[in-house]
Amino acid sequence: MSAAEREKLLVDLGFGRTFTEHMVRIRWNAAVGWHDAELVPYGSLVLDPGTAVLHYAQAVFEGLKAFRQADGGVATFRPDAHAARFRRSARRLALPELPEETFLQAIDTLLDADHEWVPSAPEHSLYLRPMMFASEVSLSVHPAEEVTFLLIASPSGPYFPRGVKPVTVWLSEDFSRAAPGGTGAAKTGGNYAGGLLAQAQAAEHGCDQVVWLDSHEHRWVEEMGGMNLCFVFGRGAGSRVMTPALTGTLLPGITRDSLLVLGRDLGYETEEGGISVEDWRSGCEDGSLSEVFACGTAAVITPVGFVKSARASWTVGDGVMGDVSRRLRQALVDVQRGAAPDSHEWLYHARVSS
Ligand code: PLP
Ligand code: COI
Repeated sequence: MSAAEREKLLVDLGFGRTFTEHMVRIRWNAAVGWHDAELVPYGSLVLDPGTAVLHYAQAVFEGLKAFRQADGGVATFRPDAHAARFRRSARRLALPELPEETFLQAIDTLLDADHEWVPSAPEHSLYLRPMMFASEVSLSVHPAEEVTFLLIASPSGPYFPRGVKPVTVWLSEDFSRAAPGGTGAAKTGGNYAGGLLAQAQAAEHGCDQVVWLDSHEHRWVEEMGGMNLCFVFGRGAGSRVMTPALTGTLLPGITRDSLLVLGRDLGYETEEGGISVEDWRSGCEDGSLSEVFACGTAAVITPVGFVKSARASWTVGDGVMGDVSRRLRQALVDVQRGAAPDSHEWLYHARVSS
């Protein structure tokens, strides 16, 4: 594709709608393990209708970003952490674990071919989507003996079409995302499919996103849609940033982990704990809870401005983005874009041949 054609496609990007020219494919079978890693043109798959993933959803994925750097280069944010989570997700879904070096190599190969697709506009990046699925043709329920790994890439703008505006959330008391012993800590499509009806219910109540509560008491806050949640208590320099602890039913977000580190770097107290719906409401009412934000690769940091449930509704702080959320967001984006020192060695700089 010519540079002019590509530039045209890079204008007015939404999230995950435009794809680059190549993808990486690696095959696995029980007899030989991982083999035939290839860079191939991006294109449709031809699947036998009996392919196991279409029936039993044995599949996992990741989501990470490559950023255009201040010096013009390209760097991926914490791909090693995503590779490790991809392995853990695979293990939970009885899929073969892709070695971390192979995961990183797949990214290098794709970025070498498609680095010109990494956008440079603020809030834009190349979203990388590694995935693995049961490609064996069989209707019997068993861990697949044939599996396919694909890595695709999508130049993307902000996840929320309105940009970094506070979202309104719906507390779902009818549905649960995950239960102890289930697949909540794995990044697998079924978790998202199971959440769509609750998301539709949130939309019917005029909300942008659904907040998941624990499946037992429907009382303890877990996470939001495809993002983790953080709660800011107090104000200014003495603020405490709290995020729900990883109980096994939440996805261990890499943004969440990064913000716990950056929060400490900025001098905030940070904590992994528990927060109930009543604490959330009373904290907003008495002013002790000043900010709430969601965090994840796709959405970075998105403030939560307003909360609704079947029983109550309330505003968080002034309903706008707070100072702690803004400082944390800026600190994260600055590291990702190479505008601040990468003191935790989170960036992997792509070696692209020009
Ligand atoms: N929780 C869920 C359910 C998600 O889908 C995501 C997105 O990846 C996150 C949390 C945030 O994780 P990360 O920060 O690693 O993107
Ligand atoms: C991400 O933040 O990478 C996600 O996967 C969230 C959503 C797009 C599924």
